[in-house]
Amino acid sequence: MPPEPDLYRLVYCSRNRILGSPQDVAAQVEAILATSRRLNARVGITGALVFNAGMFAQVLEGARDPVEVTMERILRDERHGNIQVLAFERAEARGFPSWSMGYLGRSAEGQSLFAHIGESTGFEAARLDGEHIFNVMRAIAVEEEAAAAGRLQSRHA
Ligand SMILES: Cc1cc2nc3c(=O)[nH]c(=O)nc-3n(C[C@H](O)[C@H](O)[C@H](O)COP(=O)(O)O)c2cc1C
Repeated sequence: MPPEPDLYRLVYCSRNRILGSPQDVAAQVEAILATSRRLNARVGITGALVFNAGMFAQVLEGARDPVEVTMERILRDERHGNIQVLAFERAEARGFPSWSMGYLGRSAEGQSLFAHIGESTGFEAARLDGEHIFNVMRAIAVEEEAAAAGRLQSRHA
């Protein structure tokens, strides 16, 4: 992929405010992903989303303007609150180049990312680090892509 001089990465986390049964929440997360994929693809944003233990974590990467404009919409969204931007900085390369918005909430690592926070009542921002969250999300993505490639191979064997 050619280098992108205006590439930025934003990492935030937030608390879920979606009420209802686990099925209602899952349906809303699906709706968020569908909207995100449609809108992000139009403006060259890629990234990934984790949802577990009542928290979201998201990475957005792309040119500075669209990342800012998208984040402004996300900030106004009442489906979450206590939004903490943990990192917003220039990046050398995309961490999720093939996903307009990947969902990592199904993996065990994604589930455990916030396990310690979900169990406590307060929002312990001090224990959240944007680079750490990015690195864990990247590792999950690499694993999931390898697993998907494996499934594809065995289907064609
Ligand atoms: C956790 C979470 C993540 C979201 N991620 C994105 C995203 O990556 N891209 C996006 O366009 N909208 C995202 N949204 C949805 C926006 O908040 C907003 O609803 C959507 O962009 C449509 O904008 P509008 O409501 O102003 O029409 C997200 C919402 C939530 C709650």
